[in-house]
Amino acid sequence: MVVAEKETLLQWETVHQAWGLYASAFTELNRNTVQNHMMEFDEFLTMIHNQHIKKFLAWQGEDLVGMTVMTRHLRSWPLISVPYFEKHYPEEFARNAVFYIGFVATDNKHHDTFSSLIEAMLNRIRHNRGIGVLDYSAQVMRRGLPAASMKKISDLAPLDKATPIDAQTYVAYTFEWDREVVPGTDAG
Ligand SMILES: CC(C)(COP(=O)(O)OP(=O)(O)OC[C@H]1O[C@@H](n2cnc3c(N)ncnc32)[C@H](O)[C@@H]1OP(=O)(O)O)[C@@H](O)C(=O)NCCC(=O)NCCS
Repeated sequence: MVVAEKETLLQWETVHQAWGLYASAFTELNRNTVQNHMMEFDEFLTMIHNQHIKKFLAWQGEDLVGMTVMTRHLRSWPLISVPYFEKHYPEEFARNAVFYIGFVATDNKHHDTFSSLIEAMLNRIRHNRGIGVLDYSAQVMRRGLPAASMKKISDLAPLDKATPIDAQTYVAYTFEWDREVVPGTDAG
């Protein structure tokens, strides 16, 4: 397994493989999360060509088996509140050392892919004395991903702490039927 770090992907064949890996990982996740976790292809391409977003590609021979993306340019990632990090992590923020991990995806076929990607990101974060931030949906939390990640990280480096810093709850309000109302007749 080899992990390559890139600012952009120049070859169309690699972009194509990256999209295939990403789309198959996130199509399934999206069926179980309220928040959309999957970029459209044009958004994915924009992200791929944004040199502020580092791409880590895990290769097994000619096959792309894993990918993660990370940026210290927080404005490059949608829906990240830059003032939050400025306020709560002023020292790291001033050094441009808050690293946001946009996503991790593997083909689930090779047991060391996920660890290799984590190791590559850790090296960069630690080299900069930075902090790493990412979000977990309740769905991946139920699958035990934070604990599995924590174990892998602490096998690789002394981990100080992993602190949940924020959370979002989606609420669905459901109503009792009024039998006089015929569903589907309101044009609005
Ligand atoms: C999450 C993911 C990166 C893990 O990679 P992997 O190659 O499966 O890694 P491992 O086999 O070492 O599994 C590590 C842990 O990940 C979790 N996990 C595995 N598949 C998962 C999935 N489809 N969704 C959520 N969590 C998963 C489990 O807790 C697992 O631990 P376990 O094997 O003890 O049950 C990979 O399954 C994936 O790409 N999932 C879809 C995209 C995603 O949810 N990304 C994370 C949020 S950005």
